[in-house]
Amino acid sequence: MAILIKKPADVQPSEITPKSVYMDRRRFMKNSLLTGALLAADAMFPAWAKRWPKLPASPYNTDEKLTSFEDVTTYNNFYEFGTGKRDPHKQAKDFNPRPWSITVEGECNKPGTFDLDDIIKPAQLQEYIYRLRCVEGWSMVVPWVGFSLADMLKRFEPTGNAKYVEFTTLLDPSRMPGQKRRVLRWPYREGLRIDEAMNALPIMAVGLYGEILPNQNGAPIRLVVPWKYGFKSIKSIVKIRFTETQPVTTWNQTAPNEYGFYSNVNPHVDHPRWSQKKERRIGEPFWKPKRDTLMFNGYGEHVAHLYAGMDLKKYF
Ligand code: MTE
Repeated sequence: MAILIKKPADVQPSEITPKSVYMDRRRFMKNSLLTGALLAADAMFPAWAKRWPKLPASPYNTDEKLTSFEDVTTYNNFYEFGTGKRDPHKQAKDFNPRPWSITVEGECNKPGTFDLDDIIKPAQLQEYIYRLRCVEGWSMVVPWVGFSLADMLKRFEPTGNAKYVEFTTLLDPSRMPGQKRRVLRWPYREGLRIDEAMNALPIMAVGLYGEILPNQNGAPIRLVVPWKYGFKSIKSIVKIRFTETQPVTTWNQTAPNEYGFYSNVNPHVDHPRWSQKKERRIGEPFWKPKRDTLMFNGYGEHVAHLYAGMDLKKYF
């Protein structure tokens, strides 16, 4: 195939687009792309999601390199959609997380069932760049979109008897095919002590990388507790219950000698089958030495006081 390329000297001045026209054309294209993107976002995002590009940054953000969007959304743990790391992004594709409601019950003055859009207050949304350390020995840095768990819980007015908070994932094997297999006792459940839940760090995440939360990451709403092993960060939450006694949690129930209720990231307490001293940052080359795991995943200055006087080998 012959391609005719004019040499610069062959180009007549009349053939050159004037700079102002060229700039206008670029501006026009940029504006139409922006309008297109906004229209697409309009169709896809609920009303509260439109402000996401301008979210304020949380004061607790780490400035470490982010794990790529690709890794964050294709290397997952979400047993409701399969036990393999690559299963959730494939098997959760058709999951429809809307409409969604959350039931709040137990020791509080304002229990009820709330639509997700009433739970999320757009003005409270921030970007939280947190490290997530999985109990399996790997870690990620994720830019979540979310809001303070404590601020949300206060709206339900927990009573003086509320010593713990229990969270429950949706139970619906027709929508979550992994629940047809009895690999865990469904529904997935997690819990925090009330003072842990009221700490400034934990968030309810509804997005990541400025996008609405992908199904495989726990759509439409999941917990993120950055100083605890990843399994505490329960996904696709439909129930929150304030309790006086310590709630039963899925992994503690499954293997109590391996997964404690607290599950704070702690390099000094090994898992019975492997060390917790080092971790591999997902996305880094395999030949790069592993990183040291930090006590409380590096968030000690904000949370160590919660455990003053406690034997963390006993309460692991
Ligand atoms: N929540 C539910 N409902 N089911 C799960 O299997 N896996 C947990 C946690 N939340 C899990 C869950 C584990 S082990 C980890 S490490 C994190 O989700 C992983 O979150 P990510 O896939 O967004 O990185």
